[in-house]
Amino acid sequence: MILVTGASGFVGSALCRHLSQQKRPYHGLSRTRPLWAQGENAALFSSLDLCSASCATLKALCPAGGTIVHCAGRAHIMQETESDPESAFHALNVEATQKLLEAAEAKGVQRFIFVSSIKVNGERASQEIPFHEEALLHPEDAYARSKAQAEQIVKNYTSRLETVILRPPLMYGPRAQGNFALLARAVRGRWPLPLASIKNKRSFLFLENMVSALVACLDAPQAAGETFLVSDTEALSTPELIRGLAQGVGHSATLFPCPPKLLHHLGTLLHKQDHIRRLTDSLVIDTRKIRNLLHWTPPYTAWEGLKKTGKSYDPEQAAL
Ligand SMILES: NC(=O)c1ccc[n+]([C@@H]2O[C@H](COP(=O)([O-])OP(=O)(O)OC[C@H]3O[C@@H](n4cnc5c(N)ncnc54)[C@H](OP(=O)(O)O)[C@@H]3O)[C@@H](O)[C@H]2O)c1
Repeated sequence: MILVTGASGFVGSALCRHLSQQKRPYHGLSRTRPLWAQGENAALFSSLDLCSASCATLKALCPAGGTIVHCAGRAHIMQETESDPESAFHALNVEATQKLLEAAEAKGVQRFIFVSSIKVNGERASQEIPFHEEALLHPEDAYARSKAQAEQIVKNYTSRLETVILRPPLMYGPRAQGNFALLARAVRGRWPLPLASIKNKRSFLFLENMVSALVACLDAPQAAGETFLVSDTEALSTPELIRGLAQGVGHSATLFPCPPKLLHHLGTLLHKQDHIRRLTDSLVIDTRKIRNLLHWTPPYTAWEGLKKTGKSYDPEQAAL
């Protein structure tokens, strides 16, 4: 039995749909009931707030001898509404993870897969010196700090149950929210974007490739106790990313050159420095460990993933 937390989220719901197609036994957890858990699948889901749940309740839901894929997390907050974001990240990403691990150990769960983030390694890495599993941790914001703390707690359990940590970069896929949705809307609206001069490289991860990596971690005995960085095969520049999305949306992207220095000045003026840095900086991931140890390769190229993603934002094509 596989318990999937964050079952209503972007990653968790895709994993649950995949497990359902593969006829593998699973149970999903989140506060809101997802679409996949309606009708005949209703019994495969429990509604639960991980922050307020008691250890006894969690223990009752943990699968003895099974696996937990812990996808629930406070992530990609576009407009922060919490007065104390650090505490909000800590409550779900750290404290609830600790509580779930305690319950998992008490119940005799065999494997615990934790979905972390590449942001624990930092915000920038060039193609020449990409992030790898042994790189020092350098979390730069409250979200990344909470994931780094949670990873440490997960590692403390390594002698008691099989732990696996996955660190993905920004993920995209049909109906992705956040910055991908903004970019896709801009492409669909044929907005001219001043991004043609950017010469960065970034690793991303198509949702279906993430699901495939999670399944590899579920099944491979040699994944136990390991941390893996995971991404698509290709690292893309921002103009390449936008052109890939545009292919799916169904028309070409309108990009024009603008010196990156000017973009940074504009970012400072508009208090959007972080957005501009994510568009201009490089963040490249070395995925040799997961490829070599788990014999995993992403089933989709980034171009295939972007095309499928772009299509989902085009009302005409998405309906086909
Ligand atoms: N998406 C990315 O680009 C990305 C990149 C790197 C790492 N990650 C990590 O990957 C994991 C999944 O990300 P995602 O994109 O699927 O996030 P998401 O779409 O925001 O989903 C988050 C999930 O967590 C659940 N959740 C939130 N608060 C909860 C609570 N108090 N109790 C129980 N469940 C709660 C949400 O369900 P309810 O709101 O219904 O409770 C939802 O199912 C996260 O841990 C994230 O940090 C994501």
